Amino acid sequence: MTAPKLALTESDLVGLAADAVVIGTLQGTGGVTLAPGAEAVAAAFDGGLPKLLELLGATGKAEEVVRVPAGDKLATDLLIAVGLGKPEAEGEVTAEQVRRAAGASGRAVAGLKKVASALSALDLGAAVEGTVLGAYTFTQYKSDAGKAPVGKVEFLAAGGATKEHKAALKAHTAIAEAVATARDFVNTPPNDLFPGSFADRAAELGKAAGLEVEVLDEKALRKEGYGGVLGVGGGSERQPRLVRLRYVGPKARRKVALVGKGITFDTGGISIKPAAGMEEMSSDMGGAAAVIATVVLAAKLKYPLEVVATVPMAENMPSGAAYRPGDVLTMFGGKTVEVLNTDAEGRLILADAIVRACQDDPDYLIETSTLTGAQVVALGKRTSGVMGSEEFRDRVAELGSAVGENSWAMPLPEELRADLDSRLADLANITGHRFGGMLAAGVFLREFVAEGVQWAHIDVAGPAFNSGGAHGYTSKGGTGVPVRTMAAVLADIAAND
Ligand code: BES
Ligand code: MN
Ligand code: ZN
Repeated sequence: MTAPKLALTESDLVGLAADAVVIGTLQGTGGVTLAPGAEAVAAAFDGGLPKLLELLGATGKAEEVVRVPAGDKLATDLLIAVGLGKPEAEGEVTAEQVRRAAGASGRAVAGLKKVASALSALDLGAAVEGTVLGAYTFTQYKSDAGKAPVGKVEFLAAGGATKEHKAALKAHTAIAEAVATARDFVNTPPNDLFPGSFADRAAELGKAAGLEVEVLDEKALRKEGYGGVLGVGGGSERQPRLVRLRYVGPKARRKVALVGKGITFDTGGISIKPAAGMEEMSSDMGGAAAVIATVVLAAKLKYPLEVVATVPMAENMPSGAAYRPGDVLTMFGGKTVEVLNTDAEGRLILADAIVRACQDDPDYLIETSTLTGAQVVALGKRTSGVMGSEEFRDRVAELGSAVGENSWAMPLPEELRADLDSRLADLANITGHRFGGMLAAGVFLREFVAEGVQWAHIDVAGPAFNSGGAHGYTSKGGTGVPVRTMAAVLADIAAND
């Protein structure tokens, strides 16, 4: 999509020429109140604004949008009051409340050329992310694209735009753009986004960002022994790839490996999935999309880290060339895996990629994937499951939740390892039962992580794709989760090791 142009304004929003001005409202016991940032606008209404809003039905509840004609009070014709919900304490709202309200406002101002937002008075970074992501659309395949996203947004920088304001605007704009990049990948249909074209697009983005780029095609994969990627990708006419994107920052003290599942379409293979809802398996590359966007973001924000993304890409199809239940694959690095179900394909391509990533000797490894239906059963559509080494797992889960990508730490129970024992090979790709499916996948992945690497596995099977309507700053379709979690983790490692 074309992202809106963003700027800071020191104007009080009363005299500013724009198509609309956005202010925040709060839900109180005594009715709707105005959030900080709306003071000058309120004064222009001579104190009558809360009463007027109430007459228009405003309550201040989260994501409520109320339009107020303002031509005789403000330089703009339209005032948009967007609900933040109940404040935590006296007038205090969380960053996520601001992000969601800003998201609702970003959707509400579609079609307008220029708007100003007072939500930045509460939290500039959250207002920027929410507004840009709320405005996100993906209309490339529509003959009629409908209303264009808002052209320009000016954020109120009360008391003058400081260096901190400018830095926050820049960082959060880049973060929002990274999320949009990941969404674009997920929303691109699988006839246009297949391993070869996905690798080309990733390489192009990487080059533009000044990254080191390496793409292994099926020949190179065969030569180097990537049995997992080749096994899964073998059933498709469109052969698999492995993409590596490397960023080395200034004074990089820590090395972080990112790995993301890039199944461009998951039919299940010979263990084929039911037809109903299968189209959503075009989002089975959400993890890959997120790590590609994140390593590009790391370069844009010049994190003082080395970040290397290793991204296996394959299409899981049934055909005469497809791998089958009963096959034994020799993975990159030499471990063997008996395939008992070709629909448990993600862990097979990830195993290869994790072993490759660990050859670089990273301090940390973050792997993310739309890995199991069991994640959705356990945690629902909007909470990611985080597994891995305990300390790092908890850090990732906490930082993810803190930026509004709800995450929950999950265990890797020891007893599940024996359930992955195979009659023929070093291990099997599934257990013989339905218990703890998300955890069993994590236990499988652990077998491929090198000793001493602090690692986290983020299962985003539910959160990567929004099958329902738009809400807050989350559009329909690809969500870009967990880009903001990984960005927060990278920033935290850069700051604290
Ligand atoms: N891509 C799916 C997981 C998935 C399910 C993602 C729903 C998003 C929404 C994965 O490859 C898969 O098919 N997993 C199987 C594993 C099973 C065969 C052990 C599953 O969860 O059913
Ligand atoms: Mn599958
Ligand atoms: Zn899959």
